[in-house]
Amino acid sequence: MNKTIIVSNRLPLQVKLEDSKLDIKPSIGGLATGMKSVHAEGNGIWVGWSGLTQDQLTPELEEEVKTAVTKEKCVTVPLTTEDVDNFYLGFSNKTLWPLFHYFMEYTTFERSEWESYKEVNQKFADVILENVNDGDTVWVHDYQLLLLPKLIRDKKPNISIGFFLHIPFPSFEIFRTFPWREELLEGMLGADLIGFHTYDYERHFLSSIKRILRLEVNFNTIDYHDRTVTVDSFPMGIDYNKFYNAAMVNDSQQKKERSELQRRLDEHIKSDSDAKIILSIDRLDYTKGIPNRLKAFEYFLNKYPQFKEKVRLILLAVPSRSNVPQYQKLKRETDELVGRINGEFATVSWTPIWYFYRSMPFENLIDLYTTSDIALITPVRDGMNLVAKEYVATRTNQDGVLILSEMTGASKEMNEALLINPNNFDQIADTIKQAIEMPIEEQQNRIKILQERLQRYSVEKWAEEFLKALETTKEKEDVFISK
Ligand code: ADP
Ligand code: G6P
Repeated sequence: MNKTIIVSNRLPLQVKLEDSKLDIKPSIGGLATGMKSVHAEGNGIWVGWSGLTQDQLTPELEEEVKTAVTKEKCVTVPLTTEDVDNFYLGFSNKTLWPLFHYFMEYTTFERSEWESYKEVNQKFADVILENVNDGDTVWVHDYQLLLLPKLIRDKKPNISIGFFLHIPFPSFEIFRTFPWREELLEGMLGADLIGFHTYDYERHFLSSIKRILRLEVNFNTIDYHDRTVTVDSFPMGIDYNKFYNAAMVNDSQQKKERSELQRRLDEHIKSDSDAKIILSIDRLDYTKGIPNRLKAFEYFLNKYPQFKEKVRLILLAVPSRSNVPQYQKLKRETDELVGRINGEFATVSWTPIWYFYRSMPFENLIDLYTTSDIALITPVRDGMNLVAKEYVATRTNQDGVLILSEMTGASKEMNEALLINPNNFDQIADTIKQAIEMPIEEQQNRIKILQERLQRYSVEKWAEEFLKALETTKEKEDVFISK
């Protein structure tokens, strides 16, 4: 039976060592949370890095990791500490991530890290080649593995290969600064189908293909050597029912069964029926616009002082890539801003910002989503942003307001949200006021349309459409080759 092999740097589960024992948790981030339900349904395998390096593993621990990941239909790619330093922390997260998110000032170009990027992409290729059979489909994900489609194609010319980029593809003017640009594009062109979240990213990619590789593009196909590569946009959805149903359970739960976090939130609501909770959830990443959000919230409290002691911002930031210096700097900046704003505005009965720097179990995430009146999502650049979609899915009474940055891929499909420019504090302050005062009927009208769209285009549907398009592309190509 043919299978689909999902490949990404991060597996859906992340293994860590705590006191020499394995600690296994679900991975955080749009790719892992989104693809998890797709993988659970299918008969394929998922190839990726466990989160531990080879030198951390004794033979016994390695066996334990193998058993744990095999249960989840996963296969690991062994990485050394040097690989993690140079390929993951280095090239992936100090070069490609900032460059593709328009943070030129954070981008470094280190030849030794580029060499490591190539070597690790080859390690992934080796594991796939051990596991792939003729007739299988390989679906490669994200910016850590841009060279992989070509590496597989070179050894298995007839296999069906899809590639999906979960982050923005930047404009030609940004991409052209990249020293090894030809090689990267050629790596991606090893795929039969290349997918992006939005039409804009697709357009940017095609423009780089034309201007850097000087290839001809016919609408959205590229004739490349003896193959045709198709490029298209597929906006990723969420597991809508999972979030909606969890929120339903939460709504119907008895008081005594409520989580500690939910009890605290309930107390807050009970203390003042006009009080409002604004929620923000992200990995602690400079692309997410967290300092801007905090400054805009401070600006809002100064501009509209009538809301002091009425509004609380819950800031949930998940630790991410904390060995990269820019992330450490962001952590310090966030801590300082929260401290300063709370110090400036807090009263004996009110702290304006509740700040959590940690990951939370799914049940607590649902507590936060369902209790919040407003979601404030302000990335300065974000490929998609699934948190915005998850918030909408949990609004079982269809109340609530989503304030969303127009710099997110999600904003392209979420026109009924209140869209803002994350650099315009005046606009954000006015929009928070508008959200607080929005009549319930208007809230419901907006959420209802958003929910219908999210339900229709769920992550399962997204994966189905991608894989269907890949199949069609491959069939057309085979006809083309046989002519
Ligand atoms: P990114 O992929 O850049 O991290 P997304 O918004 O697309 O951003 O995806 C983030 C994913 O991580 C969401 O599915 C969200 O539910 C999950 N997540 C975010 N914060 C937490 C947290 N504190 N605990 C558990 N899951 C989280
Ligand atoms: C984003 C990226 C993913 C990545 C995730 C978490 O969603 O698109 O590829 O896995 O962030 O980041 P991490 O560096 O922890 O894998």
